[in-house]
Amino acid sequence: MTTTPTTPPHKRWWRTPTSRLLTAAATLTATAAVLITAPGADAAAGTLGAAAAQTGRYFGTAIAAGKLGNTAYTTLAAREFNMVTPENEMKPDATEPNQNQFTFSAGDQIYNWATSHGAQVRGHTLAWHAQQPGWMQNMGGSTLRNAMINHIQKVMTHYQGKLAYWDVVNEAFNEDGSRRSSNLQSTGNDWIEVAFKTARAADPTTKLCYNDYNIDNWNYAKTQGVYTMIRDFKSRGVPIDCVGLQAHFTGGSSVPSNLQTTISSFAALGVDVALTEVDVTNASTTQYAALTQACMNVARCVGITVWGVRDSDSWRSGENPLLFDGNGNKKSAYNSVLNVLNSGGGTTTTPTTTPTGPTTPTTPTTTPGSGNCTATLSAGQTWNDRYNLNVSVNGSSTWTVTMTVPSPAKISATWNINATWPSSQVLVATPNGNGNNWGVTIQHNGNWNWPSVSCSTS
Ligand code: G3I
Repeated sequence: MTTTPTTPPHKRWWRTPTSRLLTAAATLTATAAVLITAPGADAAAGTLGAAAAQTGRYFGTAIAAGKLGNTAYTTLAAREFNMVTPENEMKPDATEPNQNQFTFSAGDQIYNWATSHGAQVRGHTLAWHAQQPGWMQNMGGSTLRNAMINHIQKVMTHYQGKLAYWDVVNEAFNEDGSRRSSNLQSTGNDWIEVAFKTARAADPTTKLCYNDYNIDNWNYAKTQGVYTMIRDFKSRGVPIDCVGLQAHFTGGSSVPSNLQTTISSFAALGVDVALTEVDVTNASTTQYAALTQACMNVARCVGITVWGVRDSDSWRSGENPLLFDGNGNKKSAYNSVLNVLNSGGGTTTTPTTTPTGPTTPTTPTTTPGSGNCTATLSAGQTWNDRYNLNVSVNGSSTWTVTMTVPSPAKISATWNINATWPSSQVLVATPNGNGNNWGVTIQHNGNWNWPSVSCSTS
C-alpha cells in the first residue's frame, strides 16, 4: 500500500528530551561510551547503497567471483552497493556439480567479500530449469524430486542464518501465464510449493523468494500467472516471503508505465517485492528513474539490484545497460537513480502498533572498550516494520563498534562500514575508509527497543 507521509512518525515519537540526553551524557565517564541524540535531518547520500538505506532499502549488484581480483571492480562495488547477488556461483551447477557432492568455494568467496564490505547477500538460486548440473538434467519423477529436496536442504544448511533472501525458485512460468515445461515441472505441479516448504524448514531465518523475468507489466499474462500462484500460496499457508521482478529491460523490453501497480499489487498479497536483475538498454535515464521511483513509491519494495557493476560486466554488454561505463565512470543514469533514491519517495507509513521504544534503553548498557571512542546513535526514518539508526563515531579513526539488537529484532541492512556478523543479532562494524558516519536498518519484529552498542579502539 502506498501512503503519502504527513508528519513522519519518528518526528513525533522518537524525539528524546534534551534534558534526558544531557543527564545521560553526563554519566558517561567511561573511556568508551554511547550517546543517544535527537534525530536530525537526512542529508543527500553520495552512493547508491547509502541513498537507498535512507528509506530502509538496499541497492545491490550481481557480483562474479572471477572478478574479485580486479581492484577497479571491487573498489567500485564496495563503495556503491550494500546488497550482493552471486551472478552464477550459488546456482545448482556451481554448488552440486556431482550428485550429493557440494562445493561452496566460489559462493563463499562472494559471501565473504560482500559481508566484509558491509553488504548483505541474496542467494540465487535453488530450483531452476537452467544451469542444472549434468547429472540432474536427465532426471525425472521421484528421483529428481528427491534430488531437488536434497539440494535445497544441503545448500540452505550451508548458508543457514547468513543470507537476507534466497531465490528458491527461478523462472517457472511461460509467457502465457502457464507453468513452463521442464524436468522439475514433470515431477508434479506441486514442485514449487514443495521447494518453498523444504526451504523454510532448512533455514527459517532467510526470506524465501520466487524470481522471474517479464512479470513487470501488470497486464501481462505471465505477471498474472505468478500473481495467482503467490496469492494461492498465501491463502494456503505455503511459506513465501518475497517476489523478485528481474526487470531486464533489455533485448527489446522497456519499463512498463504500470510497473508501480505491479509492485504494489504483489506487495498487497503480503510479500516483499524487489527488482532483482535490473538492466536497461543504453541505460536510458528516464527508464532508470522511472523504475527506481516505482519502487520508492511502494513501502514494501525493499530494494533494487542491477545485474552487474560496469557495462563490461553485463551479460548484455553490447547494450551498455548498467550504471557505470567500462572504465567505472558514473553514467547519467547513475545520477538519475541517485536523485530518485535521495528524494525519499512516498513510503512512510504510520505504525500500526504503538511502539514501546526507545524508552528503554535510552541509555544503553555499554561495554567499555579498550580506548577512547564513542558511538552516537540517532533516529533515521521509520516504517511499520523497520527503522533506521544513524551511527556517528568520535574519538578515533580505528574504531570497532559492536551492536547488539534485542531479539526478535534483526539488522536487515547496513551502510558505510565493513561488517561481520557473529550472529543475526550482533553486528561488529569497522571503518570502510569512508569516514565515521554509518547506519543500520533494523527489522523490529515487534521489539522497538534500540540496540546496545559499545565502541573500542584498536
Ligand atoms: O565460466 C565459463 C568459462 O569457463 C567458459 O569458457 C565459458 C564458455 O562459454 O563459459 C563460462 O560460463 C558462462 C557463465 O555465464 C560465466 O560467464 C556460461 O557459459 C554462461 O551460460 C553463463 O551465463 C549466465 C546466465 O545466467 C546463464 O543462464 C550469465 O553469466 C548470468 O548473468 C545469467 O544470469 C541470469 C539469471 O541467473 C537469471 N535471470 C536471467 C539472467 C540473465 O540471463
